[in-house]
Amino acid sequence: MTTIDQTALDAFMGQFVTDFGAAMHAATVVIGDKLGLYKTLAEHGPITAKDLATRTRLDPRLVEEWCGAQGVSGYASLDPASGTWALSPEQAAVLADESTPAFLAGAMWLVAAMFKDEEKIRTAFETGRGLGWHEHDHDLFHGTERLFKPGYLGNLVAAWIPALDGVHERLQAGASIADLGCGHGASTILLAQAYPESTIVGFDYHAESIDVARKRAAEAGVADRVRFEVASAEDFPGTGYDLVCIFDALHDMGDPAAAASHIRAALAEDGTWLLVEPMTPVEGPVGRVFLSASVGICTPGAQAQAGAFALGNQVTDERWAELIAASGFTRFRRATETPLNRIFEVRR
Ligand SMILES: C[S@@+](CC[C@H](N)C(=O)[O-])C[C@H]1O[C@@H](n2cnc3c(N)ncnc32)[C@H](O)[C@@H]1O
Repeated sequence: MTTIDQTALDAFMGQFVTDFGAAMHAATVVIGDKLGLYKTLAEHGPITAKDLATRTRLDPRLVEEWCGAQGVSGYASLDPASGTWALSPEQAAVLADESTPAFLAGAMWLVAAMFKDEEKIRTAFETGRGLGWHEHDHDLFHGTERLFKPGYLGNLVAAWIPALDGVHERLQAGASIADLGCGHGASTILLAQAYPESTIVGFDYHAESIDVARKRAAEAGVADRVRFEVASAEDFPGTGYDLVCIFDALHDMGDPAAAASHIRAALAEDGTWLLVEPMTPVEGPVGRVFLSASVGICTPGAQAQAGAFALGNQVTDERWAELIAASGFTRFRRATETPLNRIFEVRR
């Protein structure tokens, strides 16, 4: 006979209901972000739901209901006297202002992608054949860009490059850089903007992402010094690179050892490999995000590729050090970190 501890049952049901509410609310965040509701509220609030609907040219009844959902979740507030809705400066930073490192709303697209792809992920459990990055809904590609870009804006040039021995000076003088698994090119473009004397190429095996990256480079006005090509990390072209970067992509590969060997061959003798990987161990909300992404995205993504690895996104420093040393590199160190990322410096 199983005995139920009523207090433990109540506590766990409470946790579940909290999560249920957050998951339902997540869909309204994606809608508010995609339809410009948060941005319009930030720009024009306090305004009534009716005004918000007029400005966004959306259905007034649904916008009214959406405002109520934001209010109950603490994502917007109502002034009962005037019947107007507004975002606080903090809510606006997280939900509406893409230019700050605090912007998070775009990350919720990853949740949408997980649900849109749930059937495919479930099938991967059954077949063991994985699910390639390219097979996901495009919300994953845009959500990843929008989740990671604020972190790169806040850290890449200000903290991560300076943490690497002599790299900042070399990039300032003019260096040759490859960014592998570059996705939509957020990191690639930031490097191009910060180091105009350097030439940068972003590679990704996913052609659709490379198309978007090219558009982003043109929009950012750096198409003259950054180019994007479809290529995998195991066979990208070129040699003599001063810096090779991989931002949050090595663990997604089916054969990271082959990638490491190819990087070693492609680096200049005194070149540097900048490897960014998710923080581990992580608990709490960040741990839940990372481990859930590992189930639905990272691990099946690696399984779908050639190679015997499916590491997931919680690879320890020791495991990376071992794998990278086996590819012939002699130096590996954690150069710096953020609560979300580990930044490694690898040298030949
Ligand atoms: C989590 S995303 C990170 C994208 C980008 N680096 C960023 O930080 O926004 C992982 C990327 O790795 C790419 N990728 C996965 N396996 C790859 C491989 N073997 N060679 C090149 N790119 C790969 C995917 O297409 C995807 O764009």
